[in-house]
Amino acid sequence: LREHEEFTKVKNIATIELGRYEIETWYFSPFPPEYNDCTKLYFCEFCLSFMKRKEQLQRHMKKCDLKHPPGDEIYRSGTLSMFEVDGKKNKVYGQNLCYLAKLFLDHKTLYYDVDLFLFYVLCECDDRGCHMVGYFSKEKHSEESYNLACILTLPPYQRKGYGKFLIAFSNVMLLYEIAYELSKKEGKVGTPERPLSDLGLLSYRGYWTRVLLDILKKHKGNISIKELSDMTAIKAEDILSTLQSLELIQYRKGQHVICADPKVLDRHLKAAGRGGLEVDVSKLIWTPYK
Ligand code: ACO
Ligand code: ZN
Repeated sequence: LREHEEFTKVKNIATIELGRYEIETWYFSPFPPEYNDCTKLYFCEFCLSFMKRKEQLQRHMKKCDLKHPPGDEIYRSGTLSMFEVDGKKNKVYGQNLCYLAKLFLDHKTLYYDVDLFLFYVLCECDDRGCHMVGYFSKEKHSEESYNLACILTLPPYQRKGYGKFLIAFSNVMLLYEIAYELSKKEGKVGTPERPLSDLGLLSYRGYWTRVLLDILKKHKGNISIKELSDMTAIKAEDILSTLQSLELIQYRKGQHVICADPKVLDRHLKAAGRGGLEVDVSKLIWTPYK
């Protein structure tokens, strides 16, 4: 499918069954033609195979031996686990994940070239297995310094802080990459692939706001956007737009200057609400992809 067709196509699959949830879909997703005649799809929650009928799924569940996403478990804290799935080693899984994700992503083109991506799948685990909550994808080698391509929290799990957790996780990985290659690359930063959806922007704004306010609160004396960018690996443009939205920037003599009045900071920190789920870096077992 060409991009244009994807935009104009009407939604075909109205609901999906995934694990213990029945989920209403949001957008069109280009499933193969043989699925054109169905409005509901049944997903295996572990390998993400999709089927037209409940009985097919039930038969599948008897022989499917996966109890978690394929790939390496790279993080575990309490009942939360993150799996790293290489699209090249797990092509079908990567494609199925893309079909599923497109149902909730509007202006993303679907990549069939899953070889070039890593998928980070977040799960809530119990004695029945690891149940997917959401994921983000990342190009193995991005020329535009994108450190995140697509992000999704499945609707039943939204607004619980998982989105910001996934964003924070992708940022921690970037900081690790920088630490590993410090001698070679200086000033490496990351940013999400554009365009951002409204919910994507809200989540990123929330995350950036939290990180920047925490630093400005602790920091004594002046600090520049460049210094903030070096400390956080957040791209300077993203820092500037965030601080502008918080009205912490003044334009003086052709330069953007941060004006972090403690009272204003406190007001923003209160409004920024709960910090949410933290990434516990001591629970990460991972070295950057080479
Ligand atoms: N209405 C208003 N604000 C919302 C909503 C909503 N329905 N959902 C999220 N937000 C905002 C809030 O500010 C929230 O922070 P708060 O709860 O502290 O106020 C913030 O977003 C983040 O909330 P989280 O709970 O951390 O995020 P969530 O797990 O809901 O996931 C995500 C956010 C991934 C964007 C989710 O909404 C989603 O999957 N949407 C569909 C796919 C999508 O649009 N992805 C981003 C595309 S852009 C890209 O991929 C680079
Ligand atoms: Zn399966």
